[in-house]
Amino acid sequence: MATSQGTWGYRDRFGDAFARTYFRRFGPGVASSVGLGTYLGEPTDERDDRYRECIAEALESGINVVDTAINYRCQRSERAVGDALRRASVDREEVVVATKGGFLPFDGSRPEDPAAYVREQFLDAGLLDSEDLARGSHAIAPDFLDAMLDRSLSNLGVDTVDCYYVHNPETQLHARSREAVYDALEAAFERLERRRAVGDVGGYGVATWEAFRVPRGHDAYLSLPEVVARAEAAAETVGVDDVGLLAVQLPFNVAMADAFTVSAHRHPTEERDVSALEYAQAVGLDVVASAALAQGELAASIPEAVDAELRGDTPAQRAINFARSAPGVTTALVGTSSPAHVPENVAAGTFEPLGARAFDAVFE
Ligand SMILES: NC(=O)c1ccc[n+]([C@@H]2O[C@H](COP(=O)([O-])OP(=O)(O)OC[C@H]3O[C@@H](n4cnc5c(N)ncnc54)[C@H](OP(=O)(O)O)[C@@H]3O)[C@@H](O)[C@H]2O)c1
Repeated sequence: MATSQGTWGYRDRFGDAFARTYFRRFGPGVASSVGLGTYLGEPTDERDDRYRECIAEALESGINVVDTAINYRCQRSERAVGDALRRASVDREEVVVATKGGFLPFDGSRPEDPAAYVREQFLDAGLLDSEDLARGSHAIAPDFLDAMLDRSLSNLGVDTVDCYYVHNPETQLHARSREAVYDALEAAFERLERRRAVGDVGGYGVATWEAFRVPRGHDAYLSLPEVVARAEAAAETVGVDDVGLLAVQLPFNVAMADAFTVSAHRHPTEERDVSALEYAQAVGLDVVASAALAQGELAASIPEAVDAELRGDTPAQRAINFARSAPGVTTALVGTSSPAHVPENVAAGTFEPLGARAFDAVFE
């Protein structure tokens, strides 16, 4: 697992090549503020090879955060991360490995009949009750997450996942009430606290697409304070003093800045609603920004007014630096499966991010 000694040692090895705040505190140690994501791409051998090469090169050049999920590319992304971890000349203790459970994963390729696959592999196999399913493809029931975590550990070839995210829990709002989703999250957190106690996860988080950046009243809204309260309740039930909730993951980029601009979460001590980023910062929760390039779009061009404020030699670097400049963001994830993109994305971290005032000014 990522350790204090391992990750600080990694920073000592690479830190001089980067700007001052490139490495940031995360979990027991430090994490690079540029991380590598593994979501996009077809589930093919050719793409696996490219991901393996990108991940290994990134790990050997200053990126020590790798993000994946069991369902990404039919479990191939997790397996590519595992191969790259073994291949790269880095120690396991130097790297923050994050994965997610929630979406029912295919295995290697998309089956011809996904509904039959889900029935045979999950329902008939006793991994899941049909009432736990949302949209025929998503569940966060504790026994199901347990089984998915076991499979992720095996795919990744690691003993511990440093941050295990409950993946897009807002999907459950299609199947049950908001209160029932909070209850389901609390049950999931309890199980993850138990897995943390035996060292299978270093901590856990919630990865979202809409939940924390939409206004109150939106169908996909989940309250971050309520999620934090449920994690605290789970820790109390399990009898641990420190709460294992480490991080939230949400999309954040020049084109999707709602996590900074939409006030939808009650501040922990003040009578006002604040953004997801401000709330997370106030309670000491790390934020990992996904889709830093808006799934590639921003690598072509960034809105001019913002672009002028950002540092970096290329639009992709400037877009990455926007995401890693946001107050409260620990790491900006960039999906990278083209080896030519790795040095460019790594080098984004050699530029100073915007200061808090300059970041605010972008929105004025
Ligand atoms: N709900 C969730 O939990 C959630 C949702 C979305 C994303 N995520 C996580 O966040 C990560 C990042 O998001 P994302 O992958 O969706 O989108 P992204 O990082 O915004 O964009 C990835 C795309 O940008 C391209 N790209 C990367 N570097 C580039 C460069 N220097 N120049 C030009 N193009 C470049 C990639 O191409 P190549 O592949 O060819 O390099 C890929 O097509 C994901 O991989 C995943 O780990 C989580």
